[in-house]
Amino acid sequence: MNPYNLSVLNPLQKRVEDFLTNSITQIPTSTLQQAMRYSLLAGGKRIRPILVYITGQMFGCDLTKLDIPAAAIESIHTYSLIHDDLPAMDDDKLRRGKPTCHIQFNEAQAILAGDALQTFAFSLLSETALLDDTTKIKMIAELANASGVDGMCLGQSLDLEAEHKTVTLAHLQKIHRHKTGALIRAAVRLGAIASGDIAMPYYHALDTYAQAIGLAFQIQDDILDVIGEQSMMGKLQGSDQAHEKSTYPALLGLDEALKMTEQLYQQAVDTLAQIPYNSQLLHDVASFVVSRKN
Ligand code: IPE
Ligand code: IPE
Ligand code: MG
Ligand code: MG
Ligand code: MG
Repeated sequence: MNPYNLSVLNPLQKRVEDFLTNSITQIPTSTLQQAMRYSLLAGGKRIRPILVYITGQMFGCDLTKLDIPAAAIESIHTYSLIHDDLPAMDDDKLRRGKPTCHIQFNEAQAILAGDALQTFAFSLLSETALLDDTTKIKMIAELANASGVDGMCLGQSLDLEAEHKTVTLAHLQKIHRHKTGALIRAAVRLGAIASGDIAMPYYHALDTYAQAIGLAFQIQDDILDVIGEQSMMGKLQGSDQAHEKSTYPALLGLDEALKMTEQLYQQAVDTLAQIPYNSQLLHDVASFVVSRKN
């Protein structure tokens, strides 16, 4: 499948790609800047920026108001990947079809590149003249909360603690909702925040949609770790088994894991029906999330 089996999303992918390239190029060059740039521009799917754009667009928000939150969330996501791959975490050597940041540079530079990408996201949000101060603060709070001790970082911490163990389904769901779901949910919320008051009545429905696809995204990631093709994924298959990770296929088996993604897809699209705007692209992203091969 070509990134999205949906050519309409390709211009948005290119848009954030160009914006990120431009933003990172403005930082004076150094080993640290090179390491950040290496991972940031290694060619991810850009699903989180795309969710920012299409949520905002659905409410008629101008794309220029969405570039900054789109770039900021991708910067946070890339930092999370760099750290996720470190020897102390998942110890992976391939990412986005290239050697991981710590293999290409070294462990210390990779840790710092992750750190600096995290703060870069908040510099982008706080320094832009394209958003008013109230909107910026809402976005900064949203992204900080989704990334930190009650968001992605918590999920990563729980994920590591759950290695070599059998956890309950409820606990596994908590891990996935935090380590991956939180940023996907934040992407949708950032698009809504950029759209101002108009998006607020639909916040709850959008949230339900985003949480459903966020969990489904990680279950599909777990499934691909078992049955995916390395050349498509750009990362090494079997990493979860090697680390005895708690995953949906490990806990429930592949068939049940697949069923869960279908149920979550259904929940996501049913929820979209409550929003009186054209949510076709959000619908398409939900389809992509549960059918993706990369
Ligand atoms: C990989 O995220 C890590 C997870 C949260 C599952 P993506 O599958 O979005 O990775 P990229 O950004 O396309 O490389
Ligand atoms: C990672 O989950 C989630 C993050 C917060 C980065 P995984 O460890 O399963 O992601 P991959 O498979 O390495 O991309
Ligand atoms: Mg991990
Ligand atoms: Mg990993
Ligand atoms: Mg994985």
